[in-house]
Amino acid sequence: MKFGHFDDTRKEYVINTPKTPYPWINYLGNQGFFSLISNTAGGYSFYKDARLRRITRYRYNNVPLDMGGRYFYINDNGTVWNPGWSPVKTELDSYECRHGMGYTVITGAKNGLKAEVTFFVPQDYDGEVQQVVLTNDSASEKSFSIFSMAEWCLWDAQDDCTNFQRNFSTGRVEIEGSTIYHVTEYRDRRNHYAFYTVNDEIDGYDTDRDAFLGSIYNGWDNPTTVFEGKASNSFADGWSPVASHYKKITLAPGESKTLIYILGYAENPQDKKFADTKPEGLLTRETWVLNKEKAYAMIDKYNTPEKVAAGLAELRATWDNLLSIFKVDTPDDKVNRMVNIWNQYQCMVTFNLSRSASYFESGIGRGMGFRDSNQDILGFVHQIPERARERLIDIASTQLSDGGCYHQYQPLTKKGNADIGGDFSDDPLWMILSVASYIKETGDWGILDANVPFDDDPEGKHTMLEHLDVSFYHIVNNLGPHGLPLAMRADWNDCINLSCFSDTPGESFQTYTNPKFKAEGGYSKIAESAFVAALFTYTGPAYVGILEHLGKNDEAAKAQAEIDKMKKNTMESAFDGDWFIRAYDANGEKMGSKECEEGKIFIEPQGFAVMSEIGKEEGADIKTLNAIDKYLNCEFGLVLNNPAFTKYYIQYGEISTYPGGYKENAGIFTHNNAWIICAEAYAGRGDKAFEYYSKIAPAFTEETSDIHKTEPYVYGQMIGGKDAKNFGQGKNSWLTGTAAWNMVAISQYILGVKPEFDGLRVDPSIPSAWDGFTASRQFRGDTYEITIKNPDHVCKGVKSLTVDGQPVEGCIVPVSGDGKTHKVEVTLG
Ligand code: BGC
Ligand code: NOJ
Repeated sequence: MKFGHFDDTRKEYVINTPKTPYPWINYLGNQGFFSLISNTAGGYSFYKDARLRRITRYRYNNVPLDMGGRYFYINDNGTVWNPGWSPVKTELDSYECRHGMGYTVITGAKNGLKAEVTFFVPQDYDGEVQQVVLTNDSASEKSFSIFSMAEWCLWDAQDDCTNFQRNFSTGRVEIEGSTIYHVTEYRDRRNHYAFYTVNDEIDGYDTDRDAFLGSIYNGWDNPTTVFEGKASNSFADGWSPVASHYKKITLAPGESKTLIYILGYAENPQDKKFADTKPEGLLTRETWVLNKEKAYAMIDKYNTPEKVAAGLAELRATWDNLLSIFKVDTPDDKVNRMVNIWNQYQCMVTFNLSRSASYFESGIGRGMGFRDSNQDILGFVHQIPERARERLIDIASTQLSDGGCYHQYQPLTKKGNADIGGDFSDDPLWMILSVASYIKETGDWGILDANVPFDDDPEGKHTMLEHLDVSFYHIVNNLGPHGLPLAMRADWNDCINLSCFSDTPGESFQTYTNPKFKAEGGYSKIAESAFVAALFTYTGPAYVGILEHLGKNDEAAKAQAEIDKMKKNTMESAFDGDWFIRAYDANGEKMGSKECEEGKIFIEPQGFAVMSEIGKEEGADIKTLNAIDKYLNCEFGLVLNNPAFTKYYIQYGEISTYPGGYKENAGIFTHNNAWIICAEAYAGRGDKAFEYYSKIAPAFTEETSDIHKTEPYVYGQMIGGKDAKNFGQGKNSWLTGTAAWNMVAISQYILGVKPEFDGLRVDPSIPSAWDGFTASRQFRGDTYEITIKNPDHVCKGVKSLTVDGQPVEGCIVPVSGDGKTHKVEVTLG
């Protein structure tokens, strides 16, 4: 069952009912100011950091689920309704929500009155613009009132939802004309403020939540002011400050009126915090006055429909541009819509926000993840390489000089987060992968010389190359008894905690130091991860390639020898006959092996082991891929492990705490499905790769939205696995490494257009039924118009490749760098 449809021409998903099976959201903003907006206008805004600069309030895990947002209420002769249906939930005569690239349009109509609301954050602008177009479609004159509503958060979202003894007394506002200013804590230690304005005279306002609602027993669904059709002109004083504009409107038949609301954020320099004089008409209870110059300028920027139209056009142009870098035309519309629009869009969002703020991530739990942000770059780097470069330097700066890493950092301070600390065994390797992918995309070898400090030597002169060196050797220097990397607190799978296991409720599986291992430095020197081994052999060659390019041949040979040794160790100690085991636990027992009672096979090591060709000569790759198909494949994707754990295995940590079929205990973790898609494609089995791809790619799950529940235009982290009662139900949508990895899987492995150090590889591994496809790729200043022909209906194999009619050996298109468009023709066979 569907709840809408894709409009590919406009690059929108069109939702035709407010009652989607879960709130279906969109993100507004790309740089500083961000908003989350659901299809019923729920959600919230923040500046850069969803914890430290939260602008509007949102209550997670609320009842009803999605309550709180920016709402417009219309009172049309006693009938009260919202254009987005919620919160009043009056049945609408018509409803539509269009989520587009950085904007959302929600249109509702009732009794002949239509309200179309366009929400967007313009480029380089720290505010959300909300344009409301009201149209009287009835045959008679209509008089009605419209109320806006935003609830301020008191900046630190964590404090805001815990520290009530203080927060119920700190709220402050100023009101000037049609603008309501949120100046809580401004006088004291903050230099930032927010405002909510409308480009018209108003008939009243409210800034005190209780006054707006009329009673502490009311909710957002029955505010007295709205139902009585009159604002109370309340002035917030402590308690919970809000911002609501009240406006009376009369429209002749056919007449329209446009109102432009702006929810903005601004910062003032310390010496310009206050205005010298108090303007006439300013409402305040303070002796000081906020300097509003920046707000005035922001308000002026979008105070007419023409300016709004220009802002929207600029946003559209930006996205058209970003999405023109890589475009494909395949025989499958769903592939085209994923690759050309939605997967790339999601990659931007995950790049911007890592795992911080979604409808599943509260924005206060964690900042940017080291491994997450590095992986996000893989899917984003071609869009705005300069931003990827800056991010790489930020991330690397939180690394320690021994190669260890802070697992997370706060985007506002860019400092490693001491609460979670380090010792996640996979973290350093993702840095090698992301820096290599940046160089492959841009050819900017200069990044290796960039001055990048270590967290424990902030003033020291260090280069990015040094960061790669210590990353690589951090693995080599921390091996266990079988010569495999130590598992430490966790590897990619946060829930396999072979050292941090505990039997006490509330102890964090990732940061708890088990007394057993205290003397050993906090983690077991026995527990080893076969996943990190495989990730090492997969990423290591990129490091070797970098050293070779720099002419450091001895160092390259030394690193290569480590990779070869790791492959040998993995084959000897971690190949179980038909697949690779997952780990050795702290007792030296195998995990993810035939010998285990449950959890006999895990997905994570397999893809990277296959792509590193570990044991290929003995057929380990095909055996492994076949085992995955046999044990992990099911209707909605590949489960993480099988059989699911039904008992609590304390020695494994968090993983078996989940009921079977959810999350890391045999859920379909879409992120690592991508690694198998890549591996199948790599092994030449394009049909299988595509089968797995189409099981999880959102556009393909659209038809089963009633089961899948989350947005059909973006990936979620997890889908309930075959052991789950809610088999097929998606969760944790939007902020997941799946976005980047599936972009890699479809574009670089299946469609086979893959940047390399010395050119653009074109080596598809596609469904044999396809006759071919075309792609357009901007790469290092040139544009490549690629045509793939598949006359023999194979999956993989480049029979011939020509560039501008000239045959090229192999499948790498050399970089020409002449800034022109080149024709690449490939025949498979
Ligand atoms: C979750 C992971 C998450 C981790 C870190 C675990 O409990 O299952 O998905 O990455 O916590 O926050
Ligand atoms: C989500 C985390 O963000 C990611 O870093 C981790 O690898 C997966 N969970 C698997 O546990």
